[in-house]
Amino acid sequence: MKHLQFARHRRLRSSAPLRSMVRENHLRTEDLIYPLFILEGENKRNEVRSMPGVYQLTMDNLKAEMDEIAELGIPSVLLFGVPEEKDECGSQAYHDHGIVQVATRFIKENYPEIVVIADTCLCEYTSHGHCGLIENGDVHNDSSLELLVKTAVSQAEAGADIIAPSNMMDGFVAAIREGLDEAGYENIPIMSYGVKYASAFYGPFRDAADSTPQFGDRKTYQMDPANRFEALREAESDIDEGADFMIVKPGMPYLDIVRDVKNNFNLPVVIYNVSGEYSMVKAAAANGWIDEQRIVMEMLTGMKRAGADLIITYHAKDAARWLKE
Ligand code: PBG
Repeated sequence: MKHLQFARHRRLRSSAPLRSMVRENHLRTEDLIYPLFILEGENKRNEVRSMPGVYQLTMDNLKAEMDEIAELGIPSVLLFGVPEEKDECGSQAYHDHGIVQVATRFIKENYPEIVVIADTCLCEYTSHGHCGLIENGDVHNDSSLELLVKTAVSQAEAGADIIAPSNMMDGFVAAIREGLDEAGYENIPIMSYGVKYASAFYGPFRDAADSTPQFGDRKTYQMDPANRFEALREAESDIDEGADFMIVKPGMPYLDIVRDVKNNFNLPVVIYNVSGEYSMVKAAAANGWIDEQRIVMEMLTGMKRAGADLIITYHAKDAARWLKE
């Protein structure tokens, strides 16, 4: 053994304080964004079947939820609406009294320090469940843009701090930027979901948001999971069009894409740890097969290590609690 040469990596792992000193990445409560599903109607707090611990809430239950979020120090919420009425063109998405607009006003009035991000899409509001207007059996790009712009402007009017368009129509960032600027909202940032894959991991979300497409799928507008360079093209055009943040979605199976976006562009990168990822962890934890806390913290830290600046996650409340311990 005397002349054997090798590196002693274990030196820096020998004690907890030493490991802590050389730790390269840290998850912070400030990194977390918590999605909320606001249900129209009264007196309901429906747990999403496939997402234990996640609820569709009516407005009368929002205060208790927001108190908890504020108390935990979570800086930001992402709002999804579940309307009572749906139609062909998703008109509740851009109605002045739409559920997201109402919830936004309430939050900004009562919790001004919490950053409200409005998800800007039509799928929760259309009777067919697609993210835009249907023409000849497919989502029509340019006419959908107009409705998205109306939605974004009405969300900004209600007080949303950030607009997060997720419908994957080409030109959505350019159109929304122009619409916001014309309406006097040039200071409202756009968090683009431009790198969004056509993923099976959205299944449980569609239970939560009641947004399952009634025919076909989203493959003509969301990206093919097999593609990497396409993500860079999407990010590049969104950034040229004025995106202020770039979301990569889903999270766990796409950490390579997060790293690519981080290495190639200079804006804050957001990862969406989506519903299916959450459901898998919850199901395994409920069976006693994994240690939920350690798994969640490892996943979220891995997302930071991959290059995410911010993490949208249904685990946000638990993670914030664990970070306090
Ligand atoms: C679409 C949208 C989706 C999610 C957020 N916004 C899914 C979809 O394309 O059906 C999914 C989020 C999740 O799975 O947690 N507007």
